Formats: sequence, structure tokens, C-alpha cells
Amino acid sequence: MIEEKVTIPFTNGIPHDWSRVPAAMKAAITGCRSGALPWPLTLSGPVGCGKTCAALCMLDDVITGTRIFRTVTDLSDKLHHAKMTDVGEVLGMWDYLTGAELVVLDDMGSRKPSEMVVEAVLSLLDRRIGRATVITTNLTMAEISKVDMYGDRIASRLSAGTVVMPSLAKLPDMRRR
Ligand SMILES: Nc1ncnc2c1ncn2[C@@H]1O[C@H](COP(=O)(O)OP(=O)(O)O)[C@@H](O)[C@H]1O
Ligand SMILES: [Mg+2]
Repeated sequence: MIEEKVTIPFTNGIPHDWSRVPAAMKAAITGCRSGALPWPLTLSGPVGCGKTCAALCMLDDVITGTRIFRTVTDLSDKLHHAKMTDVGEVLGMWDYLTGAELVVLDDMGSRKPSEMVVEAVLSLLDRRIGRATVITTNLTMAEISKVDMYGDRIASRLSAGTVVMPSLAKLPDMRRR
């Protein structure tokens, strides 16, 4: 008997469709999933090129396990709040993030992130080495490495994975179509 694959679409209010994911992103996603390319997967590109929608499509395909979508700001705010309230909550949050099947960290956009943001991103990347993790950003890898004094630490971890960059793919603004 062929089991029917049942997925509940992961919506955060944005409609998204795998058939509209740019080919360069599709290729990288497929490669990471098959193990041919290393995690984490960084989708870097200009605003509107479809990074968030591609990540949402990936979340749709997770059938078992936890799927997490967080903006970078969200992650850092939640961590900060947990730290202020209870150490147990911080540990619980990291367990949740570390054990998830897929974590999407959306919109790493600021050239001057707070130390807290950088710390949160670095911790997440270190805890999820080799696990399905996606980072979307409108910065290029060169721009990330120039981010204050911590940028090169993030860039080096991202470069160890798979990076889709605008220079590798001409990505149009899909909002303007
Ligand atoms: N795979 C997709 N399926 C459907 N619509 C898409 C898709 N990719 C992009 N779009 C359209 O383009 C807009 C911008 O895409 P988005 O993923 O938010 O870009 P980015 O995160 O790169 O800024 C979306 O709001 C949507 O209207
Ligand atoms: Mg986006």
C-alpha cells in the first residue's frame, strides 16, 4: 500500500509554492536534503527574490519532527526574554531549537546587529552543525564578514555549508512581477 504523504502547509500568512522557487535555490535545497551538499543552507539575495517563500516550502515538506521558523530578531528577543526570566527557560529553548527537524532563521539583514543577535545566530549554528538549518539574508557573504567584529565568525560557519548568492544566480524581485 502506498502511504499518502500528508503535510500541513506551514503558512505564516505568505502564500508559497515550490513551482515558483528559483532554480538555483531549488538545486541547493535538493542537494542539501540528499546529503550531497552540506548544511547549513544560506539563501542570500536581494529583497523579494523568493528566499522566505523557498524556506516556507521547505518547512511544508517536514512530515515528522518539529519545524521552526524564526526571524533573527525574534530568536534574539526570545532568548533575551528567557535569560531575564529563567535559566531553565533558556535551556529549554535551546533544546527545542537543537532538536528540531528543520530550523529556518529568516532575514539576517542588519549590518550592525546587536551583540545579542550575533551571539544567538552563532549559538544556533554551532548547535545545529550537520542538521537541516536555513538562513535567509539580503547581505552577501562579503557583507556578512564585514559586520562589526563578529561577522567573520558567522560568515565562516555559513561558508562551511551551502550558499546561494545573487552572483551565482540572477534573481529577480518577484514582488514586482
Ligand atoms: N515560491 C513562491 N511561491 C509563491 N510566491 C512567491 C514565491 N517566491 C516569491 N513569491 C512572491 O514574491 C514575494 C517575495 O518573496 P519572498 O520570499 O518574501 O522574498 P524575500 O524573502 O527574498 O524578500 C512573495 O510575497 C510572493 O508574492
Ligand atoms: Mg524574506
